[in-house]
Amino acid sequence: MKLFFINGVNLNMTGEREKGVYGTQTLEEINKEISAHFKNDTCLFYQSNIEGELCTAIQNARKEKVDGIILNAGAFTHYSYALRDAIAAVSVPVIEVHMSNVHSREEFRRNSVLSPVCRGVICGFGKNSYILAGESFKL
Ligand code: DQA
Repeated sequence: MKLFFINGVNLNMTGEREKGVYGTQTLEEINKEISAHFKNDTCLFYQSNIEGELCTAIQNARKEKVDGIILNAGAFTHYSYALRDAIAAVSVPVIEVHMSNVHSREEFRRNSVLSPVCRGVICGFGKNSYILAGESFKL
C-alpha cells in the first residue's frame, strides 16, 4: 500500500512549539516512527507552510497513484477552502488528522472546512493519530 502523509502549516515546528500540546518529538522523528510502523508499505512524506503547495501535493497524489492521504493541515483545516476544493477534486481518499484533540481546545478549532470532503477524521492521539489514520486504509 502507498500512503502519503502530508503536514501543513507550522507542523515543521513540532517538537519545538507548544510541547505540552504536540509533544517533544520533531516531525522528522515522528515520520521515522511512522515509516517503521508501516515497514511493509510505501510511505511518502511532505510538509509545507504554503497553502498552494499543499493543494499541489494533493493533486500530485493521483499521479503518484497513492492509496490514501493522511493530512494534518494545521490551522488551514479551519478556513482553507482551497484545500477543501483540492481534496474534493481528487478521487484519492483523504483522512484528516490532528495530534491534539481539537474539540477540547479553543472554539475556532472545532470547525473544520475539510471534514465534509474527507473520508474520516482522527484527532487527539498525538503522533498515533497518523498511524491510526494510515491503518484505517487497510480495513
Ligand atoms: C493541529 C490542530 C490545529 O488546530 C492547529 O492549528 C495545528 C495542529 C493538530 O495537529 O492538533 O497547527 O492540526
